Amino acid sequence: MTHTIGWGILAAGKIAHSFARDLALVPGATLAAVGSRRAESARAFADQHVGPSGPPAAHGSYEELVADPGVDVVYVASPHALHLEHARLAFEAGKHVLCEKPLTLTGAEAEAMVALAREHDRFLMEAMWTACHPVVRRLRADLAVGRFGTPRQLHAELGFRVDAGPCDRLLDPTLGAGALLDMGVYPLTFAHLMLGEAEELHGTAVLSEGGIDLDVAITGRYPGGALATLSASMTSWSSRSASIATDRGRIDVASFHHPTHAVFTPFADRGSGDRVGPGERVVVEGDEPVLGGGYGNEAAEVVRCLRAGLRESPLVPHAQTLALMRQMDEVRRQVGVRYAADER
Ligand SMILES: NC(=O)c1ccc[n+]([C@@H]2O[C@H](COP(=O)([O-])OP(=O)(O)OC[C@H]3O[C@@H](n4cnc5c(N)ncnc54)[C@H](OP(=O)(O)O)[C@@H]3O)[C@@H](O)[C@H]2O)c1
Repeated sequence: MTHTIGWGILAAGKIAHSFARDLALVPGATLAAVGSRRAESARAFADQHVGPSGPPAAHGSYEELVADPGVDVVYVASPHALHLEHARLAFEAGKHVLCEKPLTLTGAEAEAMVALAREHDRFLMEAMWTACHPVVRRLRADLAVGRFGTPRQLHAELGFRVDAGPCDRLLDPTLGAGALLDMGVYPLTFAHLMLGEAEELHGTAVLSEGGIDLDVAITGRYPGGALATLSASMTSWSSRSASIATDRGRIDVASFHHPTHAVFTPFADRGSGDRVGPGERVVVEGDEPVLGGGYGNEAAEVVRCLRAGLRESPLVPHAQTLALMRQMDEVRRQVGVRYAADER
């Protein structure tokens, strides 16, 4: 693909607006169309995201969106319980897919989506923007070559109080509600990126009367014996930060799922024999600019992959997404959270 990549946004909800704003900053990409269940919503969205060549086409159904010849890749931004159905729609229309996180509700559904992508020979990536973020990528590469020592302990937490009504997707189990899938996927992904694939995970959770996990905490054991404590909350304001303790010091990452930078503080023997204290701090920054709020970098990665003829991204490979979906299946099994998709 050498032409400007035409994007179609499927579902005009909250994240779709953030994504569209950042997409406008991505070279070689254009917002070609938006599709909503209601024509008025699609039109209102299109009017808010007018590009250099005018507003994107506004479609009053997802079927019309995926049939739009100006659309090369569909960004699926519906609630997670509907991702598989909507990705299928796009693949069957011959489109590539960037699908919001979590890819699906269950590992089995995620495998089905990956199989569909292969069957239709289309590109598929989970919209795990954290894995495409320049600072996270730099930190991961530095850790991999031992720049800051060997990681022994990682902590990451993400949470905000959800005050929505019971029909909101964040609290509606039929749409995939729950802190683990909505927020816990980030600390789990961060640990996976920094430490490798978990060998063992143990979860505990507080469930609502309706059976969704409002608060969840996970301990994990990773390759080489590194340990992680991870949490997600829909009832409280967590720090949203991460830290990685290594045998040489500590890395602190504020807003770890889209950080502006990370800081390594070495703790070294200062030579006095009995005094060990902090050395000079190292600020870790990305090698590329952050595009908008960070959603632009994941869109740029999709554009890069499509131009290179790839069917998956090395930054968010299918195997990684599937491993994380299986981890969330296992934590849900341990804490007793089930979705209708588990019965299928
Ligand atoms: N990457 C991130 O930082 C991030 C942040 C937030 C959310 N997300 C993910 O993005 C997805 C959407 O989240 P959101 O916060 O944007 O949700 P939202 O504001 O509720 O929007 C979801 C949209 O999905 C469409 N939809 C289709 N069928 C629906 C149904 N039965 N019930 C409700 N909505 C339906 C609606 O769009 P139309 O009416 O236009 O068809 C709705 O506006 C979720 O999977 C979430 O995990 C990612």
